[in-house]
Amino acid sequence: MFEEAQLYAPVTTGEDGSVTVHLDEGHPGFADPAYRERRNHIASLALEWAPGKPIPTVQYTEAEHEVWHTVRRELATKHERLACAEYRAAMEYLRLPFDRVPQLEEVGGLLGPLTGFTYHSAAGLVPFEEFYGSLADGVFHSTQYLRHHARPLYTPEPDLIHEVVGHGGTLASPAFAELNRAAGRASRRLSTPEARDFFARVFWFTIEFGVVWEDGELRAYGAGLLSSYGEIEEFRSAELRPLDIGEMGVLDYDITHYQPILFAAESVDQLMEVVGGFFESCDDEAPARYRSLQRARPPAA
Ligand SMILES: [Fe+2]
Repeated sequence: MFEEAQLYAPVTTGEDGSVTVHLDEGHPGFADPAYRERRNHIASLALEWAPGKPIPTVQYTEAEHEVWHTVRRELATKHERLACAEYRAAMEYLRLPFDRVPQLEEVGGLLGPLTGFTYHSAAGLVPFEEFYGSLADGVFHSTQYLRHHARPLYTPEPDLIHEVVGHGGTLASPAFAELNRAAGRASRRLSTPEARDFFARVFWFTIEFGVVWEDGELRAYGAGLLSSYGEIEEFRSAELRPLDIGEMGVLDYDITHYQPILFAAESVDQLMEVVGGFFESCDDEAPARYRSLQRARPPAA
């Protein structure tokens, strides 16, 4: 699988019921026992949770509120210059707090009246069917931990800031919320590894790392760009290609580096038409259909 979920640190439960989040050696919190203990605790809350119960409330520490505050403020400044208008408007309506970490229950409460989306708690990796499929029902699976406080502007994993500032902001837009729902419906029609892989790549290059032209300027609408303090400043240097489902669906990408190739929509309307249209028609035959379309295409001049 080439889904973003690969980025999440693995979580295991021991025979005694103890939960361990396995951070990579290069993770900023790897050598910090208190941070690791914290991660284990937050993951255990998610594992104890089941749909139907209230989302676990995490008692965030002052250090965690400070991380949120720093990143939220810095990203908001960057969004004015670099985020697309649809996202900026959605964030205005969503009204995420600046000074403290919001609870997932609260984020769902803010999203509900706007687009009907709500959040579920996840310890880490969520299986393909569950993560993507739930989008069709207006449910977004989210982790609840924050990045390490030593490097608030960097995280090797998608943390709460990615899930809420990145995805939550886009899910507050009726247009983007519908695109996510359409992706969820598409994922439920897929059963072959090839079709799922094709779909996940399109999701990556659009909902996670999509960019769009607005008044001659390139703007971000992908959650991965919108939540990344570093990458949001770099995406205008990427190699840009027009929206092309057949190309996105087979292009490799490296999850550990800034994306060198991005696909730019001409407008949000074009995005909805091309990518929304793909999600509406996507099934197990999609990879073969797009392969034959690519073959039938005359070579570029
Ligand atoms: Fe994401």
